[in-house]
Amino acid sequence: TANIAVFASGSGSNFQAIQEAIVRGELDANIALVVTDKPGAYVETRAANFDIPVFAVSPKSFASKAAYEQAIVDELRANNIEWVVLAGYMRLVSDTLLTAYASKIVNIHPSLLPSFPGKDAIGQALAHGVKVTGVTVHFVDEGMDTGPIIAQIAVDVIDGNRELTEAAIHKAEHKLYTQALQQLFAGKVRVN
Ligand code: GAR
Repeated sequence: TANIAVFASGSGSNFQAIQEAIVRGELDANIALVVTDKPGAYVETRAANFDIPVFAVSPKSFASKAAYEQAIVDELRANNIEWVVLAGYMRLVSDTLLTAYASKIVNIHPSLLPSFPGKDAIGQALAHGVKVTGVTVHFVDEGMDTGPIIAQIAVDVIDGNRELTEAAIHKAEHKLYTQALQQLFAGKVRVN
């Protein structure tokens, strides 16, 4: 059973989907810790509903990004975390975390990367007028939504409508992330 930490900055619907998949027995993992860089984010409430501890740390209370990430690494180590699962963690990961968890950090992004990296990928796709967008799960490196791709799924843009498209993307995310993590933790993912 993979011992994992989920990182989130906001609502945490992906965190909840992963936890529910674990409860249903579809994913062999244990979320030992939720990490948020936004104390008070709704993900804290969701974590509390599942009795999962939250480590809430604001980067602002540290002298440097390295010090901020070192505090997180210390907490991950204290909880024997093996994998870091980013789920709406809206911050670049840098050296301290990447070195401590080399090839053990994954992310989900609401577009078919390398299209529309960064913030508001769904808004970017709608503004561009693409008819198909999607979801990507990938390993994390120092770039913005770069890193080797693990899994992707296409999602239709519905009538150029933000609300409908967003709902379809979130639904696809919840399914794809669970499946990709199951493959990853089972040692079945290879990247070229
Ligand atoms: C998700 O759509 C995720 O793909 C996106 O933030 C949302 C978080 O939703 N991440 C990025 O855009 C990363 N660049 P959630 O808090 O409900 O899981």
